[in-house]
Amino acid sequence: MTHTYHYSSCSYIKKTVPGTFSRKRCHTKIGRFLRGLGLESWGRLRYKSLAVKDVKSIKIGSLHYDRALFMGPMEGITDVPFRRLIRKHGCGITCTQMIHAEGLLRGFESRRMQETSCMEKQEHPVGFQLAGCNPEIMAKASIQVEKMGAAFIDINMGCPAKSVVANGSGSALMQKPDLAAEIIKAIKKVVDIPVTAKIRAGWSESTKNFLDMGSKLQDAGAALVSVHARTRAQKFSGHANWNLIADLKKHLDIPVIGNGDVFFPEDIADMFEQTQADGVMMARGALGNPWLFSQKHPKVAEITQTLFEHLEDHLSFYQSRDRAMLTFRKHIVWYTHGLAGAAKFRKELFRERDNDLLLSKLKDFFSELDPQSSPDQHEKKRQA
Ligand SMILES: Cc1cc2nc3c(=O)[nH]c(=O)nc-3n(C[C@H](O)[C@H](O)[C@H](O)COP(=O)(O)O)c2cc1C
Repeated sequence: MTHTYHYSSCSYIKKTVPGTFSRKRCHTKIGRFLRGLGLESWGRLRYKSLAVKDVKSIKIGSLHYDRALFMGPMEGITDVPFRRLIRKHGCGITCTQMIHAEGLLRGFESRRMQETSCMEKQEHPVGFQLAGCNPEIMAKASIQVEKMGAAFIDINMGCPAKSVVANGSGSALMQKPDLAAEIIKAIKKVVDIPVTAKIRAGWSESTKNFLDMGSKLQDAGAALVSVHARTRAQKFSGHANWNLIADLKKHLDIPVIGNGDVFFPEDIADMFEQTQADGVMMARGALGNPWLFSQKHPKVAEITQTLFEHLEDHLSFYQSRDRAMLTFRKHIVWYTHGLAGAAKFRKELFRERDNDLLLSKLKDFFSELDPQSSPDQHEKKRQA
C-alpha cells in the first residue's frame, strides 16, 4: 500500500469506520439549536479567521508562517477537527499528536493510526510529530510521513509518560543527547522537509541539560527547538520556568519556541517579552478555549456556538457516533469550566450513558445560561 495521497485516508476512515450518524442530520439539528439561541449557524462562520495583532512571523527551515503561535501536540486531542478549530481562531502552526514510529511502520491500516495521522488538504501545512529512539526506524517513519504530506517533522523528546520513556523515547532522550542528535541527522539524510525537536529542561532538577541538548540538536541540523520549561521529574507539576526559555534563546542560533503554562491571552505577550523566544506554544490552555489564540475572553454565547460547531465537526470526522460522543466528552468538560453550575452538570455528564439524552442535557445547560455572561477565568485555570 502506498501512502502518497494521505489526505485520502480521511475519506478512508469515513468509508470504513462503521457509523450511522449523517452529517446532514447533525448539521440540521445543531444548526436549529444554535439559531434557537439567536446564534449564527456553523456554515456561515466556518474558516473565518480572526485578526490578532502584534504576533510575529517565523521561518521553520524554508517554511514561512505568518504567526508564531504554535499548538503543542497533544495525544488524543490535536486531531483534525481540533486543529481546524484553533486555526480558525488564529493558531499559526499545528502538528499531529505524537505518532509512534514503530507503530506507524507496523500498522498504518489500524483505525487509530489512520485517525492520528490524518490531515486534510486544506489544513496544509501541518507538522507530524514522531516518537521513537532508533535512528534507522525514525528515518524510515520520516520518509513515510513526508509522503503523507507532512510540512515538517517534529521529534518528541519531552513526553514523560512511563510507557514512552520505558523504551527510551520521549523525555528519555534528554538523558542521551548524542542519540537525540543522531536521530535528527538520520532523518535529515532521507527527507527534504525541516526537522524540529520538542524537548524539556532536562531529566531532573540536578541534570538540567537543555543548553547542551539544544546545541547538539542545532549542530545535527534541527530547524527549530521548542522547550517545555519543566524537567521530566516535574511532569506537569510546579511552574514552567520561563527563564530557561530565555537562556536557550540566547544560547542557540536557530529559532527557539517557549512552552509551558500559557493559560491566558496576556501570557502570550508576557512569554514573548520575558523570553525573547521566536514563538509561543500553547497546550492545556487551549483546551475548551480556542480564544487563547485569538486573544479574546469569550462570552457564553460564543462558547455555546463554538462547542456545538466543534461537536458537529467532530461527529462528522469520526463518523461512528458512539466513538465521537465518547471522545468529545472531555471537550465538553473543558468548554464548561468556569461556567455557572458547571460542576453539577459535569457530574451528570459522566453518569449519562445515552448520547441523545446527553446532547439534550447539554443543550438545556447552555439554554439556561445568560449568553452575555463570561466564565470565571481563574476557575478555568485552576481546573486545567
Ligand atoms: C493530555 C496531554 C497530551 C500531550 N501529548 C503530547 C504529545 O503527543 N506530544 C508532545 O510533544 N507533547 C504532548 N503533551 C505536552 C504538551 O504539548 C505541552 O508540552 C505541555 O502540556 C506543556 O504546555 P502547557 O503548560 O501549555 O500545557 C501533552 C500534554 C497533555 C496534557
